Amino acid sequence: MTFTVAIDGLAGSGKGTLALALADKFNLAYFDTGLLYRGLAYIALDEFGEDFTKTNVINIAKSFRVNTLKESNLRSPILGKYASEIGAIPEVRKILIKIQREFKEKSPSNKGIVVDGRDIGTVIFPNANVKLFISASLEERARRRLRDFLTNDENISYDEVIKQLQKRDQRDKERSVAPLVAAKDAHLIDTTNINKEETLEIASSLVAKKLSD
Ligand code: C5P
Repeated sequence: MTFTVAIDGLAGSGKGTLALALADKFNLAYFDTGLLYRGLAYIALDEFGEDFTKTNVINIAKSFRVNTLKESNLRSPILGKYASEIGAIPEVRKILIKIQREFKEKSPSNKGIVVDGRDIGTVIFPNANVKLFISASLEERARRRLRDFLTNDENISYDEVIKQLQKRDQRDKERSVAPLVAAKDAHLIDTTNINKEETLEIASSLVAKKLSD
């Protein structure tokens, strides 16, 4: 069975940074599943503008090919907002389950995979070897997001980032299908007061332990 690390958590919690670092350290293949939802948002906006419908998105998802989009085009705050709206459409989630599970079957690393998102440990890979749930305070997450946005020349204020994160947290936690929740057997890591190296250390010891079992 492919060794699987499932990482879930809130926007800006540091889960993406951690996932990438773990993949690098243990030579595992990495999949950022948020890019699927962002990719659908990108295509929907491009083809239909802001008035795209649920049916438009479902049709796009049906013929969706990962790897056809450039990641650097998908990181904007506006795509985060539309991605979370799209993530609340049950039909879309159903289609994307298949793509995510295929990644495991066709994994480019024979050592295993690290997958991050919102429902990885609960829905996509409920039998994952290691499950992590990453959180941080709203204010700290907003500071991190703002830093990323400013680095990418996005013109946005701290207050606006706080507002967007609150809306996104609420939508992700309250949607009817696959809401964001920690799996019962997930290890919780609060990154509010620790840096990325410390976070990696905590997660690495959990992964190393499972790998040696
Ligand atoms: O992680 P990221 O900020 O790129 O995700 C964008 C949005 O995509 C999230 O707010 C969430 O609504 C949705 N998403 C999801 N399930 C995942 C990954 C992302 O619903 N596995």
